Order: sequence, then structure tokens, then C-alpha cells
Amino acid sequence: MTEKGFILTTYNSNIDRGSVKWSSPSNIALVKYWGKKEHQIPENPSLSFTLSDCKTITEVTYTKKSGNDFSFDVFFEGEKNEAFKPKIQTFFERIELYMPFLRDYHFKIETSNTFPHSSGIASSASGMSAIALCLMSIEQELTSDVISTERSMSDEKSQMYFNQKASFLARLGSGSACRSIEGELVVWGKNESTESSDLFGVRFDGEVHPNFKNYQDAILLVDKGEKQVSSTVGHKLMYGHPFAKERFAQAHQNLAELTKVLASGNMKGFIEIVESEALTLHAMMMTSMPYFILMKPNTLEIINKIWAYRAKNDSNICFTLDAGANVHVLFPKAEEIKVYEFIKRELVAYCQNGHYICDSVGKGATPL
Ligand code: DP6
Repeated sequence: MTEKGFILTTYNSNIDRGSVKWSSPSNIALVKYWGKKEHQIPENPSLSFTLSDCKTITEVTYTKKSGNDFSFDVFFEGEKNEAFKPKIQTFFERIELYMPFLRDYHFKIETSNTFPHSSGIASSASGMSAIALCLMSIEQELTSDVISTERSMSDEKSQMYFNQKASFLARLGSGSACRSIEGELVVWGKNESTESSDLFGVRFDGEVHPNFKNYQDAILLVDKGEKQVSSTVGHKLMYGHPFAKERFAQAHQNLAELTKVLASGNMKGFIEIVESEALTLHAMMMTSMPYFILMKPNTLEIINKIWAYRAKNDSNICFTLDAGANVHVLFPKAEEIKVYEFIKRELVAYCQNGHYICDSVGKGATPL
């Protein structure tokens, strides 16, 4: 599929109003996306676990309007929110070509998260994917009685088109959001090892050993404050970064290795790649110009405790990080009881107000 294939050409403009609602999860990258080209095209492929419980729930009500401007209101957790508007305005501008009905309607966007606001968890992946899915449902309603190419597709093909275009739109809102449409493992970015595209995320098509089914993710909230450097700024600092070329090549290698590890069930291999990816991401931040550090002292305390626990116990616990200080603790379901005891006993002390979130790998977004 090319960009052109996502341009909607015919739709029914006689529909006056309607309402659609989606729940869409967050995701955590195992191979990290860090660095992008124009139009949200990633510099390297990434692979993520879709999460199950950290979700955004968004309802979009659309009403026919006159005038040619974008018109929308955003309500976050029941309250009108002006702060989100510029991001959605930019999103609408980027996707307008693919959704020409955007100027025909006023949109009331009501959104809430299942995880605490200001938990320091990036809500852009779940938030942008939820809006993208709502807009796709609207597109579907506006095209349901139009003889279009989409109509003549088989159910399976039109479901694939729906998911691919939802992911394509979500990507234009926030890169990592394109990996939140489906589960349980999603790849984004062209590479030699898997079926994939730079334009949207697709379900990982490789073999996955039972060892990696039902993985758990405990998100330790080390710092709930606003990040000093946003991901968008961080990505830009990969332009002219002294290690960029090597880093992008390494992501390809790590994805190829991880594909083998996922198939064979090699837990030690998994740990090595996932932790190395997390530390490399932060190493890229520390070696950018200007340089910056998003980890906090407690991030390092937790990492050291995890290493000590793993050395002492016969455990496959490991960690990963996103662009912040919080630590994602990943472990197999079979270790759940022991790991949560360990977290309560030794790690909670390093979490802000003792807060952490228990999540696991999920299957993707659902219509409500
Ligand atoms: C470190 O998707 O938040 O979490 O495309 O600018 O919105 P934008 O960035 P974003 O970057 C996420 C970076 C990351 C790694 C990852 O999720 O792969």
C-alpha cells in the first residue's frame, strides 16, 4: 500500500450526524523508534508489545456544519480542554488529504485514560490511535452506501484496509501510536526480517514461542512530572547525531535477532536485546547535542535491583524504558507472584508516592 491508496475519494455527504467510540491501548517498544524523517517516517524499524489495561477511551460525535474551517472541541475526563487542541489541529492538517470530510463536520472529541493523568505515561500512543480509529469509523459510516473500491473488497481485506489506514493516520499524529491498533506484537518500519511498512504498523508475522505469550509489564512510576525534553524534540536531535548511522543499523540487527529469539523461546537472548535497546535509547539522548538525561537516580536504583534479583534468583525478569524516567518491568506470567512480591518489597520505595501500574500484553484496540 502507498500513501495514495489511503486517499478517500467518494463519500456520502448527506449524513448529518453520528457518533463513534473506541478504546485503544498504549504500547511498549522492545526495539525502539528514535529518529525520524519528514512526514513521520521512522529512521529505523521498531517492534512493540501492545498493552492491555493502559488505554484511552475516545468518543467522537460529528455534526454537519457550514464553513470551510476545521471545527472541534476536546473534552478530557469530562472537562473542556484547550491544551490538547493545537496537537489535534496539526493532526487534522496532516491527515486532511486522506479524510476530505474533516471540514464538513464539527467534531466533539470526548476522551479519558484508564491510567492516572500526569502519571508520566505517554498517552500520545493510545490517544492518537483512539482518535484515528474513531475517524476511520466515521469514514466507514460515510462510505457505507457508496460503491467504492473498499466496498467491493472481501471482509478480511476491508478489515485489513481499516486497520492499516487507522495505523497510517495514527502515525501522522504520533509515530509510536501506529503500533497501538493491533496486538500482541507489532512491527513498524521497513526491514529485511519481517513483513512491514514505513507507513503503518502491522502485526508481527513471525513465530512466537509460548515463553513469550502472556508477558507482564509492571510500570514503575519514578517521575510523574513533565519531561524536560519531548520525544518530538529528541527525535530531531538524531539529525547529525555522531552515532545515528550505527544506531539505525543496530536497530535492524536487533530486530533480526529478536525475531529469532521470539521463535526459539530464548529468554536470555530476549533480555539482552530488550535491555540493550533501552539503554541505547538513553545513550542516544546523552550523546545528542544538546545532550540530556531523562533517567532519574531512582531509575538506576531500580535497574540495579532488577539485575541483583535476576542474578540471585532463577528469573527472567528484565526492564525497558521509554522516553522518560519510568521503568517497565517485563516478566513471564509464571513469575507473576514472585515478581510482584519483589516489587512491593524492594522497588516500590523508588516509585513516586509508591505508585506503579500492573499491565500485561494485549490484543489491540476495540470498538465500543
Ligand atoms: C522512546 O511516538 O512519542 O517511546 O512521533 O514525535 O510523536 P512522535 O514520537 P513518539 O516517540 C516514541 C519514542 C519512544 C520509543 C518507541 O516507542 O518506539
